[in-house]
Amino acid sequence: MKYYDFNENIERRYTGCEKWDRFNCTLENKRIPLWVADMDFKCPPEVIEALIKRAEHGIFGYALCDDEYYHSIINWMAKRHNWQIDQEWICRSPGIVPAMDMLLRALTEPGDRVVIQTPVYHPFYSVIKNNKCSLLENPLLLQGNKYYMDFDDLEEKFRAGAKVIILCSPHNPVGRVWTRAELTQLGELAQSYDVLVISDEIHSDLVFPGVKHTVFGSWSEALAQQSVICNAPSKTFNLAGVQASNIIIPNPEIRNRYLSIIKNNGMETLNVFAVEALKTAYNCGEPWLEELLVYLKSNYDFICKFITQNIPLLKVIESEGTYLAWIDFRALGKDDADIEQKLIEETGLVLERGSIFGANGYGFQRLNFACPQSLLAESMNRLNSFVNA
Ligand SMILES: Cc1ncc(COP(=O)(O)O)c(C=O)c1O
Repeated sequence: MKYYDFNENIERRYTGCEKWDRFNCTLENKRIPLWVADMDFKCPPEVIEALIKRAEHGIFGYALCDDEYYHSIINWMAKRHNWQIDQEWICRSPGIVPAMDMLLRALTEPGDRVVIQTPVYHPFYSVIKNNKCSLLENPLLLQGNKYYMDFDDLEEKFRAGAKVIILCSPHNPVGRVWTRAELTQLGELAQSYDVLVISDEIHSDLVFPGVKHTVFGSWSEALAQQSVICNAPSKTFNLAGVQASNIIIPNPEIRNRYLSIIKNNGMETLNVFAVEALKTAYNCGEPWLEELLVYLKSNYDFICKFITQNIPLLKVIESEGTYLAWIDFRALGKDDADIEQKLIEETGLVLERGSIFGANGYGFQRLNFACPQSLLAESMNRLNSFVNA
């Protein structure tokens, strides 16, 4: 039974919206933004109602994260991810990127080595640089049409004295939902070499039907003690602009170091709407999410089919989750920044060039498919004329 209309085209232009307004997507130029990771769908209706009710109250003093707030997170993690967490493990942050920055500030010294698995979400590079840490790349391997971890190289990087790995799980941009076996292998290496794992799981709820996300370290108490899990309702329920994230830290020493940094920065309270949205989304949003996941998978399948049939020069990398397609444009033999620019100028499509995710992303483009299917169909037609012109 379908209750939610993900086919509805909702006007986002001129609403102060990063995705549409930053690239000057006007009614006249008909640009279609398929770049930054937010969705063109309304969030669950219960969240909208809760926010209206909260706004009508009219008093917006400091918010308290009450028991209901914590229970909503604890229940969500148990129900969706089979992970029992304690209330005291849950720390806050308006976003995962600021949390990442504060975690590195709390837990590293300048010069410490931090591993990332490239190509990867580009702010990972800047948080490492901002904290004067040294970057160690563990490039992912593209085998067939799917990415895998290179464990031999990872072990080398750990042996070279890595202090931290920032894991992207599920992985943006390559769309892998790492298996329990892969994560276990990574965890064993992290334990052998005493490497702290900061696992960015912001996309953990966005896995295609039948695919299972495993929370890093959830199978081992010892491993959980050397892990920090970052997740949020922001991608899941399209609430990125409301800004509430969960930084889950089982280890009390690591937790206290993080807490002291966020306290010193005056960032330990969330805004009143963030608290309300988070609670309502986790408590009431599951049926909406279930339908969303089916819709996203059908969008992904649509892109794959269209490109295979009509634009065989391009290849959509096999994905298991997120709403970001990673597309190989290398057969066009052109510079990816050039392709990105020409796509905007000649077709009005705004994608993101692969090289911003790392040198080994060069030649790819990332396409956000979380939009009504009619918009995606129009985008595919434009892409077709661009490549096959
Ligand atoms: C892997 C990953 N981490 C973090 C973020 C952004 O998180 P936030 O807006 O909470 O800082 C994104 C957004 O696209 C992402 O893909």
